[in-house]
Amino acid sequence: MTSRTCLTLVLAAGEGTRMKSALPKVLHRTAGRTLVGHAISAAREAGAERLAVVVGPSREDVAAEAAEHAPEAQVFIQAERKGTAHAVLAARAALERPSDDILILFGDTPLIRAETLKRMRAALSDGATVAVLGFEPADPTGYGRLIVKDGELAAIREEKDASADEKKIGFCNAGLMAISGAHALELLDGVTNDNASREFYLTDIVGLAREAALKTVALMAEESEVQGVNTRAQLAAVEAAFQKRLREHAMREGATLIAPETVFFAVDTVLGRDVLIEPNVFFGPGVTVEDGATIRAYCHVEGAHIGRDVTIGPFSRLRPGASLGDHTRIGNFVEIKNAVLDRDVKVNHLAYVGDASVGADANIGAGAITCNYDGVRKQRTEIGAGAFIGVNSALVAPVSVGAGAYIATGSVITDDVPANALGVARSRQTVKEGWAEERRKNNPKPPK
Ligand code: UD1
Ligand code: CA
Repeated sequence: MTSRTCLTLVLAAGEGTRMKSALPKVLHRTAGRTLVGHAISAAREAGAERLAVVVGPSREDVAAEAAEHAPEAQVFIQAERKGTAHAVLAARAALERPSDDILILFGDTPLIRAETLKRMRAALSDGATVAVLGFEPADPTGYGRLIVKDGELAAIREEKDASADEKKIGFCNAGLMAISGAHALELLDGVTNDNASREFYLTDIVGLAREAALKTVALMAEESEVQGVNTRAQLAAVEAAFQKRLREHAMREGATLIAPETVFFAVDTVLGRDVLIEPNVFFGPGVTVEDGATIRAYCHVEGAHIGRDVTIGPFSRLRPGASLGDHTRIGNFVEIKNAVLDRDVKVNHLAYVGDASVGADANIGAGAITCNYDGVRKQRTEIGAGAFIGVNSALVAPVSVGAGAYIATGSVITDDVPANALGVARSRQTVKEGWAEERRKNNPKPPK
């Protein structure tokens, strides 16, 4: 099967009006990725070497998002919404180039797994001309019904066109289809809009294939894999299904989740072995966690790398570009952004480290802040290995603190501090003997 060529079409021309959103539906996110991004990723994983995305008119934003996930994808515009077959035919130029398999995915069905797409392709290599993905939803209302006769798929009937008996069928069309490239165009060109919605239904190619004595089959999928998104409530349901899948995967791969239902992953979160995750942790996209790390309760992490045996939290925030070397320790109310911390660094409480590099074994005290923004641009702070940044210091970037240097508590550091030096930038303390006693004498409290 692997030698067969495949074109995948992702239909993403839906307006998604029921989302009541300024964003097109397929740009909404679940598990840290856009809906259309999920569909494209599944297609790529299933080995689609050619990809085409069909978008609505003036949807440069959807085209740009598709390019993020598949720079090689061809984008086609469906100028008017005239049905799913019409949408597929918007990509006629892609269909005209020969390929063995054509996979049709919906941009709003993000839970689809590559294994299932491979199963659909396998049905083609076993001789089917059309393979349709079916499922048995708890509530079939609104779905096209799959009419199976003698083990083969005889037709798909849209609900609007179905008879009372056909409406009783529980086996429904998930919408995804695999079509033999040799027959796709001829079948699609045969579709008419002679139905209740006056739309060109992709599903009609099943009946057309049967008339031409071609084999059509229906495969079964789990409902959780083909749930579509039309509303915000369905977006939340899809999110829940993703999180269940991602939590189970994390645990299967050797992470301990004390309260799995309170940990939220992005689809691309990578965890090593023996990672311990305490309750209430959120992972945005782009996070890798090495073996043995501990993420304590209430952390928010995105675009970050967490090294071996690192501990973060409780209540830590890692923003994009945070990279923590092995054994580093980030404590409560610490924020790290676009900063590379080497191994064994300690930032234990109440600090902000942004646009910085921090050498191994450095210790950054409570309340220390890298002042990385001057109101116009971001500036960098370099902290050398083994440096000690005293409590409540402000390091005004651009600035560097050399290896092994000390910064005295409460300093505002605006000039570079060389290696092994002390940087102190605060006024000296004065002590006035007896001053308080004198004041009380001169300003007695009024009687009660
Ligand atoms: C479709 C199926 C139905 C199936 C259901 C599963 C058809 C005719 N019907 O119905 O059998 O049970 O999905 O969810 O295929 N789209 C375009 N351009 C169009 C029309 C649709 O790009 O002109 C895209 C939509 O953005 C969406 C997908 O195709 O991603 C499905 O379209 P939709 O109108 O939601 O089809 P359903 O009526 O749900
Ligand atoms: Ca739909």
